[in-house]
Amino acid sequence: MAFTRPTPTGHERFFADDDVIVSKTDLTGKITYANDVFLTIASYEEHEVIGQPHSLIRHPDMPRSVFKFMWDTLGAEKEIFAYVVNMARNGDHYWVLAHVTPTFGPDGRPIGYHSNRRVPEPGAVSRIKQIYAALLAEERKYADKRQQLEAGTALLQRTLQDTGMPYEEFVWTLAA
Ligand SMILES: Cc1cc2nc3c(=O)[nH]c(=O)nc-3n(C[C@H](O)[C@H](O)[C@H](O)COP(=O)(O)O)c2cc1C
Repeated sequence: MAFTRPTPTGHERFFADDDVIVSKTDLTGKITYANDVFLTIASYEEHEVIGQPHSLIRHPDMPRSVFKFMWDTLGAEKEIFAYVVNMARNGDHYWVLAHVTPTFGPDGRPIGYHSNRRVPEPGAVSRIKQIYAALLAEERKYADKRQQLEAGTALLQRTLQDTGMPYEEFVWTLAA
């Protein structure tokens, strides 16, 4: 698919509290399944997303270091809950609370990944927005992608250290 990354419109989209946005990927993050809620909110047809990298719906406000943390967690065969802002086809955005898990094959090894996303608490979104904005600002101090990742990851670790909680505990305090 010829794909031109959209420019953010600043317009937020919402989905219903009882909706779940679902996608599955292979081990490299290429989409193997997307449910109707996913396709509707992102404004894509199924054939346009299957086989595409999941970064298809990446929003530029998402820090690189958060995705690195997500992939590191999945690489350690662990689940992760994360607030993510995604971008629809026209550049509109929508916030989700994603639960991303490895899918294990019969031999117990990961064969892909699965993400279920639900409507996030508005209070959690306003808190995580500040944290992501700080991470993004830190990353943007550097032109080099590797340096961006290192600087963002270091700030993410400092931010967690300041809370005195590991990420998997901290993430639940955002909605409290
Ligand atoms: C199951 C699964 C679901 C994902 N969901 C999203 C998502 O909703 N939005 C997103 O931007 N990236 C998502 N990612 C992460 C992307 O694969 C990618 O790491 C991210 O968009 C950053 O892309 P980039 O490094 O090319 O900038 C997901 C990855 C997996 C394995």
